[in-house]
Amino acid sequence: MNKVSLLIGPVNQLVTAKSIPWRHGDSVIIIEEAGVAVNGHEVIDVGPWREISRRYEGKCRVSAEDSLVTAGLIDPHTHLLFAGSREDELELKLQGTPYEEILKRGGGIYRTVNETVNASDEELRGILLSRLLEVAKYGTTTIEVKSGYGISPKEEIRLLRIINDAAGEALIDVIPTYLIHVPPRNMNRVEYINAVTASLDQAKELAKFIDVFCDDGAFTVNETRAILNEASLRGFKLRLHADEIAYIGCSDLVNEFNLTSLDHLLNMPEQNAKAMALRGSTATLLPATVLSLMSSKRPPVKALKDSGVPIALGSDFSPNTWVLNMQYVMELATYLLGMTPLEVLMASTVNAAYSLGFRDRGILQPGYLANMVIWSIPNYKWLSYELGRNKALMTISRGIILESKPTNPNVTKECS
Ligand code: NIG
Ligand code: FE
Repeated sequence: MNKVSLLIGPVNQLVTAKSIPWRHGDSVIIIEEAGVAVNGHEVIDVGPWREISRRYEGKCRVSAEDSLVTAGLIDPHTHLLFAGSREDELELKLQGTPYEEILKRGGGIYRTVNETVNASDEELRGILLSRLLEVAKYGTTTIEVKSGYGISPKEEIRLLRIINDAAGEALIDVIPTYLIHVPPRNMNRVEYINAVTASLDQAKELAKFIDVFCDDGAFTVNETRAILNEASLRGFKLRLHADEIAYIGCSDLVNEFNLTSLDHLLNMPEQNAKAMALRGSTATLLPATVLSLMSSKRPPVKALKDSGVPIALGSDFSPNTWVLNMQYVMELATYLLGMTPLEVLMASTVNAAYSLGFRDRGILQPGYLANMVIWSIPNYKWLSYELGRNKALMTISRGIILESKPTNPNVTKECS
């Protein structure tokens, strides 16, 4: 008998991708009556429970006979760090005022910038940590967090430092991104881009990615190109808010740069799907923002799938799209974007890992990080079938059980 730190089983069903990324049509691993052996941070074995239970003895054992187990959820696109809220803009939107118009009037992002730059480090750190605790309750084990509500490089660096500090304390993994969000209202745009460029060396140790909001009302293609050029020279990984509000050519930049991910894509021309596939870029889709923008547009899901582009899902949590619950995003992906429960699971685990440039998570196989969710549903088809209930019973991050709702009598946890 091998001794391990955590033994999970029997569970009703285990579903995981075989490798990173998962493309439409790839087969997956489905094990009924499954078990998982974890030692420390790592998964060391996965298989039918009758075999796993013969091979391993766990210091702790979780049994969840009626449950599904999957890799932990990953949210690869969030604006988690800001102060204040914008609930009053909802009424403006309902009256038909477009997002770009609210922004032009100094509302939207600009308003959140005001509130954020006036908040202290301590306040912002507290806000961020409480949001990080909340997302784990819904199964998120790795999350990207963008800066972007500072605008001035000095403020953006402050926000990145706060993200890094919180990352050191959080129970889940936090991936910082420096987002060049919107041009300042009272500064020459060329001067601003020069100032951003000058801040990149300082940002290097604070952010894995550079992201630019390339769109009508934000940065032009030329401005975005200038920023991405400087960022790639300094070895940053790149991601892009592209074609969210309108198509002004932003997604075409996939032909010029190694973009780890292009996000939103509500107005992307279908032919760019082929270029994305060729370059190995992820399409990170954000269906909650389709709702919050009250948009009738949809990303070209079929073209992306047919071209073999890995599709990921993200929450886009922001004052415009207040959603910390990745399960809700998964449900919306089915009902708004036509993605099947299996596609949705792959998009929020293995492909979300790919979207963040990871090869060590998103899959439940030996050698991968022991990030998992035990779900209070019998099989993966329930993932986006059942709406509106928190279906995560237990969130496990790096082999540690974070969230446990022992209300289900068929789930037990025992430690010796
Ligand atoms: O991804 N598009 C830019 N940024 C966010 C919204 C931010 C905001 O409205 O505060 C987004 O939708
Ligand atoms: Fe966003």
